[in-house]
Amino acid sequence: MTTGPIWIGPSILSSDLLRLGEQIAVAERAGVDFIHFDVMDGRFVPNITFGIPVARAVREATRLPLDVHLMIVEPEKYVREFVEAGADTVTIQVEAAVHAHRTLADIHEMGAIPGVALNPGTPLSAVTELMPFIGNLLIMTVDPGFGGQTFIPAMLDKVRRARDLIDERNPNCRLEIDGGIKASNIGRVVAAGADTFVAGSSIFDGTNQIAENVTALRRAASVLAGSDRTDSPNPG
Ligand code: DX5
Ligand code: ZN
Repeated sequence: MTTGPIWIGPSILSSDLLRLGEQIAVAERAGVDFIHFDVMDGRFVPNITFGIPVARAVREATRLPLDVHLMIVEPEKYVREFVEAGADTVTIQVEAAVHAHRTLADIHEMGAIPGVALNPGTPLSAVTELMPFIGNLLIMTVDPGFGGQTFIPAMLDKVRRARDLIDERNPNCRLEIDGGIKASNIGRVVAAGADTFVAGSSIFDGTNQIAENVTALRRAASVLAGSDRTDSPNPG
């Protein structure tokens, strides 16, 4: 089980994009730890979102870590531009990366934290050999492509095994969960060993309750994990 601080970051995919700067500022004031930025290309996933110019704009809007999640084919072609746009972490989908090791090494050399993400159907063994080279392991708990989908409970066992893999091979690596995270399930995922949470529709739910939503998630996560946030990037 995780003993360190829990980080929570909003996925701006679910935000009111016309008021993106404002929405990020409210989330930042509410104490989120990072901003999650979903890049979709209409090929790896059946949806298209936003790219490098928007990443640059978000970088200007906040001092929080910018957590870029590339759901794109041939990620090696774009990692440099995202790092130059200001990404702190660049996470690639292992299914989309033919030479994942090389791309992760490139991200590291460019000065960002390399991460790998796994679709729900991808076995954990796909990343075993990559563990020494990453700072973020992202377990998808929905099939990527859209916000607002339902958390797949069967992924809890994979999260437990991912925690074991991290403890064994790279204890400093963060274990990030993305998809369907809500106050009603985050506690179980913390208990399974995750320490970093993306939340889209449960933070940006179309109301003006962003701060309340962040607090509810934080509270539900800390029931099991304790509330030590000393190394949060946004100590508040
Ligand atoms: C899904 C994206 C997620 C998504 C999360 O493909 O990678 O980051 O925005 O949204 P919720 O929390 O609504 O599932
Ligand atoms: Zn994501």
